[in-house]
Amino acid sequence: MSERGAFRRFRSHRVDLATRDAYRDTHLACGDFIWPVFLVAGRGIREPVASMPGVSHLSCDELVHDLGPLVARGLRSVLLFGVPASKGLEQAWSPKGIVQQALPVLKGTYPDLELITDVCLCSFSEDGHCHVGDNDRTCELLARVADSHAAAGADLVAPSDMMDGRVLVIREALNEAGHGSVGIMSYAAKYASNYYGPFRDAAECAPGHGDRTTYQMDPGHRTEALDEIAADLEEGAASIIIKPALAYLDIIARARNAFDCELVAYSVSGEYSMLKQAIAGGVAGPAIVDETLLGMKRAGADRIITYFTPAVLSREGGPSQRSG
Ligand code: PBG
Ligand code: ZN
Repeated sequence: MSERGAFRRFRSHRVDLATRDAYRDTHLACGDFIWPVFLVAGRGIREPVASMPGVSHLSCDELVHDLGPLVARGLRSVLLFGVPASKGLEQAWSPKGIVQQALPVLKGTYPDLELITDVCLCSFSEDGHCHVGDNDRTCELLARVADSHAAAGADLVAPSDMMDGRVLVIREALNEAGHGSVGIMSYAAKYASNYYGPFRDAAECAPGHGDRTTYQMDPGHRTEALDEIAADLEEGAASIIIKPALAYLDIIARARNAFDCELVAYSVSGEYSMLKQAIAGGVAGPAIVDETLLGMKRAGADRIITYFTPAVLSREGGPSQRSG
């Protein structure tokens, strides 16, 4: 008889679904999802976005309609992007702007839904850039945008421009205007990424000249992300976004180790379209979405911004932890 050393019985934790469920240390819950929405002016508008199958430009009434079942399923938050019919910077902070007009309607219909607004200039500017040339002048304009969102009922404003110091300037402007309770969810570590292509189509914000590499982070940098996050927290951010998510899971994990604040992973448009194509092409079933999002939670994200939110939440049983 041969002598065998003792070994551990890991498989006892995997015998059936209930056991796996009980043993698991990472979960996907309905409340973890933040749904990014492309809002347009008008009524009854539901215009599919060609680059993002399953995603549409929605007018406010259509969004109200779609939110009903999702809120009933436990959706807690939406992230609003206004997509104007024509360019013009003033629309970004106008009280008659798309987002500004939608906020009171959404708040009135779903008082417990957290309303987060993207704060940037690129969907409004003629050249599609997130700035107007000068860093500090841009911060002042972003503060006007944030203030107009706060005045219309935003719970959180989310600056996505990557100008230096904008969290400080926005924080001070909000405080001065009496919006001290409106928080800033800052896109602190936002990389200059190839994964934003479908979004630029949807938000009509592709840069007309050049690219965003002089303001968004260089993908070859690891420690600078922690510096960016630390700076935004010091300037008054309540919550931090890391973006993209899938190719930057290491950044999420490092940030998790370094900071106690809320960390949000933004699984961006390219990740969405890539997975949609994988599913359409038969590479895998829809559970590949849940598995991918679970990886972001495992890396350390508290919540996830994903275009898959309606699909996952409206599925029978909600987000699943199934694997292949
Ligand atoms: C622009 C902005 C972008 C995204 C969010 N806000 C694109 C960019 O920086 O070019 C990307 C979101 C996505 O790809 O889903 N301020
Ligand atoms: Zn922008």
